[in-house]
Amino acid sequence: MVKKIFSGVQPTGNLHLGNYLGAIKNFVELNNNDENDCIFCVVDLHAITVKQDPKELRNNIRETVATFVASGIDPKKSIIFNQSSVTAHSEAAWILSCIARTGWLSRMTQFKEKAGKDKEKVSVGLYSYPVLMAADILLYDATHVPVGDDQKQHLELCRDIAQKFNNDFKAENFFKVPEPLIQKEFSRIMSLKDGTKKMSKSELSDLSRINLTDSSDEIINKIRKAKTDPLPMPSKKEELNKRPEAKNLIGIYSSLTGLTFEKSINEFSESNFSEFKEKLSQVIVEKISPISYEIKKLLNEKSFLDEILVEGYEKANEQASLKIKKIHEIVGF
Ligand code: TYM
Repeated sequence: MVKKIFSGVQPTGNLHLGNYLGAIKNFVELNNNDENDCIFCVVDLHAITVKQDPKELRNNIRETVATFVASGIDPKKSIIFNQSSVTAHSEAAWILSCIARTGWLSRMTQFKEKAGKDKEKVSVGLYSYPVLMAADILLYDATHVPVGDDQKQHLELCRDIAQKFNNDFKAENFFKVPEPLIQKEFSRIMSLKDGTKKMSKSELSDLSRINLTDSSDEIINKIRKAKTDPLPMPSKKEELNKRPEAKNLIGIYSSLTGLTFEKSINEFSESNFSEFKEKLSQVIVEKISPISYEIKKLLNEKSFLDEILVEGYEKANEQASLKIKKIHEIVGF
């Protein structure tokens, strides 16, 4: 069966190792399989749910495209496009917001985390954001959606919206109910400063994350300063349950080398962290440096990046326009 893949990344700058290991690395593997039909979207409409500087946003859109290509996504094989260019996304989001229930949205943990104590002051868009995400996916009849673990609840909501729309309008199978593609392990990369918090673009301290554009020296320095605990390296996987920082660093090592947790633990069992950190930095530098080099190179080729978005827009728009037309008919417009 041909898998129809759809996923998105916000162009908010500072794409990091969590984005890479949790999502983009997976996009590349899916792109490389000829049986898949892939669409990767730069979700700028999502980005403006919090305030953005227009000039920076424009640069970040290009940087996200550059990151996709530098990581190995081939724009000739997969569609890469910018969400705001295909107006059907905003339109479908409105229609689906009349299907989704406020109770469903109120349960979204990411909203609660992002809004914090001041729920009254955040934008309406931040609250309704998962409906836009559902529109993204459902417009293309995506069957599979590769994401990191933090997006799991949003995908469940997307499935609920698809099913309710199909039921309400007696339009059996009109919206495909998509399957999440979330890696079993390493699907949530944590902060280098606190192993219980997600590695994130919005974290104030740059030392908490490895950015995909960091130099080798920056990577080595950040890993050297990464939080650990006073014990030597673990000798059994079970020990990791109580040692979040060790678990995260060994997870990053395993994910980049392709080794299982057990094999990585055996390699460094009982040794001290500094030895492991040296090896870990080396592995990260080997993986990230070529990507970082390529991103910087592509950022000087603005017209190449813009062409990718124009071609992507044409292909995505063709599909989305057909779907939104059918949505209009079903709804009664
Ligand atoms: P965004 O831009 O926050 O993140 C992009 C992708 O990176 C993953 N990710 C992580 N994975 C592991 N560990 C981490 N620390 C980490 N941080 C981020 C995210 O899970 C995501 O896969 N709402 C989405 C974008 C979106 C989308 C969509 C995704 C919009 N429409 C339709 C799929 C389908 C978001 O804000 O991702």
